[in-house]
Amino acid sequence: MKIYTKLAGTLLASLGAIAISGGIAFSGADNAELVIDGKKIATKSAAPEGSALDELISGWQYALSETQEMQADDFDNPAFPAVERGEGLWSTAIGSKNKSCADCHDDASVSMKGVRAAMPKWKASLGKPITLEQQINECRVDRQGAEKLKFDDNDMLAMTSYVGLQSRGMPVKVQTDGPMAEWTDKGKKIYYTRVGQLDMSCANCHEDNYGNYIRANLLSQGQSNGFPVFRLKWQKLGSIQRRFKGCMSNIRADPYKVGSDEFVALELYVASRGNGLSVETPSVRN
Ligand code: HEC
Ligand code: HEC
Repeated sequence: MKIYTKLAGTLLASLGAIAISGGIAFSGADNAELVIDGKKIATKSAAPEGSALDELISGWQYALSETQEMQADDFDNPAFPAVERGEGLWSTAIGSKNKSCADCHDDASVSMKGVRAAMPKWKASLGKPITLEQQINECRVDRQGAEKLKFDDNDMLAMTSYVGLQSRGMPVKVQTDGPMAEWTDKGKKIYYTRVGQLDMSCANCHEDNYGNYIRANLLSQGQSNGFPVFRLKWQKLGSIQRRFKGCMSNIRADPYKVGSDEFVALELYVASRGNGLSVETPSVRN
């Protein structure tokens, strides 16, 4: 049975949770399990106190079953060539200081464990939170004497996926109190503000309508625990903020700039909505 709801001029086909037309299976309701190398990664978790969501659900639960399977096997996961490149870059000396990441951080599986789970992080020296990409750029510029990279530069994605992998399976745990409170609030305001020609907010899709279809797309909670994600549509990895840009463009709003205070605040707030969900980096999405 199909129930159509009209939402800000967009027709959403709200289909029962289980089976839908065209042979597409939504597994969100069947508690599909993500197991990688024999290790179970929880794709649902209890909502943190004060959450607007009843339960936290990873985007993996909303992916097509073939896509889910790709992510469940590192040999099939199309992000892994980039992860391997990141591993190579980790120990390659670069810049005017001729230093590698490994020169200072040694074994990434030890030094980078848990780092991705806590990003964006408060940076006292700058008096603001920074994302993983910004931290890597800080090390590149200040400690290696190399140039900054764009968030979606292939070398940056190789590094964020390699560093992120070291937290796979660990719960997202971003700080939202202390100096982060003001930034979390700023991100929250952006999340709930209707923008663009379609006059919609992030919450209209990812809070009010997850589990429903919008055109051919099954809406998830818009969680960030899998980033960078390999999107089959892009045929490459993409940063969280690239996804934000895409979502804003889709509702015909002017996206903020990647790396802007607005997007860092939004990234922090979105991460905080997933506090407790497992890091899945690098995940695969349609
Ligand atoms: C010369 C030494 C040096 C080099 C080379 C270096 N870093 Fe760092 N890195 C540091 C120091 C020191 C900090 C802590 C900075 C701070 O807290 O302000 C840090 C912090 C970090 C963090 C944050 C860790 C956390 O716990 O949140 C990440 C991620 C990181 N570096 C990644 C890299 C990567 C990737 C490279 C190579 C592209 C690299 N670093 C190269 C010295 C270095
Ligand atoms: C018109 C509906 C719509 C709006 C509004 C919207 N998105 Fe999305 N978003 C989507 C669709 C469709 C996808 C792909 C399917 C999915 O994961 O929901 C998506 C995916 C995402 C993802 C990736 C989730 C994953 O698991 O990989 C994130 C993160 C995200 N959106 C964040 C946002 C943020 C932040 C905003 C507000 C700036 C926003 N979205 C606004 C429709 C929307």
